[in-house]
Amino acid sequence: MLDSYAVIGNPISHSKSPLIHKTFAQQTKQSMQYDAILAPLEGFQAAVESFRQQGGKGLNVTVPFKLEAYRLATRLTERATIARAVNTLKFENDEILGDNTDGAGLVRDIECNLGIPLAEKRILLLGAGGAARGVILPLLQQKPSLLAIANRTPAKAAALQEQFNAYGNSIAGDFMHFADAHFDIIINATSASLHDALPELPASVLAQATLAYDLMYSHEPTHFLEFAQQNGVHQLADGIGMLVEQAAESFFLWRGIRPQTKPVIAMLKSPI
Ligand code: ATR
Repeated sequence: MLDSYAVIGNPISHSKSPLIHKTFAQQTKQSMQYDAILAPLEGFQAAVESFRQQGGKGLNVTVPFKLEAYRLATRLTERATIARAVNTLKFENDEILGDNTDGAGLVRDIECNLGIPLAEKRILLLGAGGAARGVILPLLQQKPSLLAIANRTPAKAAALQEQFNAYGNSIAGDFMHFADAHFDIIINATSASLHDALPELPASVLAQATLAYDLMYSHEPTHFLEFAQQNGVHQLADGIGMLVEQAAESFFLWRGIRPQTKPVIAMLKSPI
C-alpha cells in the first residue's frame, strides 16, 4: 500500500495542494498518494480519525480547521505552539504531531525566491488574524530592524505585538497610525482580498516600499497589489510562492526530502 497523505478543509475543491505534492513526489521519486478531503464543518476530528484508521501518514490542514488541528495534535512544534495554529499533521504510532509551515514558507519565498533578505528591513504587516499570527515569529527570526503590525481593529494588533514583543522590535497600530512611516516590505495578511476589498491603507505608506506581498492569490492581481503598483512599488508578489514553499516544508517533515520549489512555482504561475 502507498503511503497516503491528503489536504483537508472546507471548501477544498479549489486546493492546489494535490497538484503540488504529486509534482514533488514525482520529482523526488517518492511512492506516495495525495488526495483532497472535504470535511463537514462539524466533522473535522472524525474525518482525521477515519483517515488515520485507514493508515494515513499525514495531512495538510486548511481553512477553517487550523485551530482545531492545533487542539487535536498530541505534540506541537515550537512554531505551531506560538502560531496557535497547525497546517501540517504527521501521524506516527500513537502520536499526532502538529506543525505550522506557513511562516517558514513566506520567509523562504521572500528570501530565496524573490531574493530579498529580511534582516535590517522595515516590515509592515497588515492584519492581526490567524494568517498574521502564523507569520510573525518566522519574520522576527530574520532580524528585521522593525516589524509594524497594523490592523483595522488596533486592539488586536496591540495584543499580537505584546505577545511577540520578546522576539524582536515590533510596534502596533491602526492603518492611519503609520501614515507618515516608511517601510521596505509591506505584507497583506488581512482577509480583505478574499472579499475583493482593500485595507484602508494611506498611499503614503507605500512610498518607499520595494516589495508588496499579498498572502492571498487569485488569477487577477488583488486590489492590494494593484494599489501598490499604482503607488510605485516595483516588486509585487502574491501567495503562490508561499503556498508552494509551505508545502515543501510539510513534504520535508513527512518524507525527509526537500523538493525543488522553483519549477513548481513556475508551473502554477504559467497561464493554463
Ligand atoms: P485569517 O485567519 O485569514 O487571518 P481572521 O482571523 O478572520 O482570518 O482575520 C482576518 C483579518 O483580516 C483581520 O485582521 C481583519 O481585521 P479586523 O481584526 O479589524 O476584523 C482583517 N480584515 C478583513 N477584512 C478586512 C478589510 N476589508 N479591511 C481591512 N482588514 C480586513
